[in-house]
Amino acid sequence: MSFTIAVAGKGGTGKTTLSSLVIGHFLRKGKTPVFAVDADANVNLNEQLGVDVEQTIGGMREDLKNSISANEIPAGMPKETYIEYLLQDTLVESTGFDLLVMGRPEGPGCYCYANNMLRRYIDVLAKNYPYVVIDNEAGMEHLSRRTTQKIDLLLLVSEPTPIGIMTAARIRDLAKEMEISVKQVGLIINKVNGQLPGSLIEEAKGYGLDVLGTVPADNTVVDYILSHIPAMQLPEGSPAARAVDDILGKLGI
Ligand SMILES: Nc1ncnc2c1ncn2[C@@H]1O[C@H](COP(=O)(O)OP(=O)(O)OP(=O)(O)O)[C@@H](O)[C@H]1O
Ligand SMILES: [Mg+2]
Repeated sequence: MSFTIAVAGKGGTGKTTLSSLVIGHFLRKGKTPVFAVDADANVNLNEQLGVDVEQTIGGMREDLKNSISANEIPAGMPKETYIEYLLQDTLVESTGFDLLVMGRPEGPGCYCYANNMLRRYIDVLAKNYPYVVIDNEAGMEHLSRRTTQKIDLLLLVSEPTPIGIMTAARIRDLAKEMEISVKQVGLIINKVNGQLPGSLIEEAKGYGLDVLGTVPADNTVVDYILSHIPAMQLPEGSPAARAVDDILGKLGI
């Protein structure tokens, strides 16, 4: 049974950076293989993990639609086997982790057959990994349709501002409204300069949010971004990586 962590929050708060650091944590601890899922239509987790992506689930769905209508599925191959084969081909395999990129969501003409098949196979695939880390796009609207229905830990990421914390609470509420089972929700306040104002912790508590910890504004993160070095490669001792290790460590992960 895999342990699934989904990372969500307002745009630009650091979801992709923290997802990469969470994956880096699992790699450092030898808790592998990790199944990384980029659920942001604006694909970019791969850059922070240092791997190239050639195909996405969205692209594969289009190809599948086209090959079914053009009758191009290899003769004698059941559709299910073909989908499984395409899915394996979409998966990016790397050392300690594999990455699946969702890409563009389905358009208005839902190709429900392929979508349902895909979701089922992604769930089957995920079961092969002890840890699943899903980097989401801002908001949560797509989560239930496109990825897993079961989340063990929903990590909400916020900047140290009242509006950031309010947005995190809204995303938590959205997750509750959707048919996703979430076992634990926690807030990480990212890009903290110096001491976190106590008033922000009180605001988070006011929304019923559990503050798991803070991650400092880290110049190494900025240097890495500017030099196009994947965030996952941030050294264990860098402030942001250490903070993520501490937060997960406290949770026993
Ligand atoms: N702890 C940190 N210290 C310094 N810079 C950070 C930190 N965390 C993230 N950043 C920077 O903030 C920017 C946004 O980060 P990131 O892309 O991870 O956010 P995101 O929430 O995934 O954004 P989006 O909503 O566009 O997907 C990046 O330039 C990243 O390097
Ligand atoms: Mg992102």
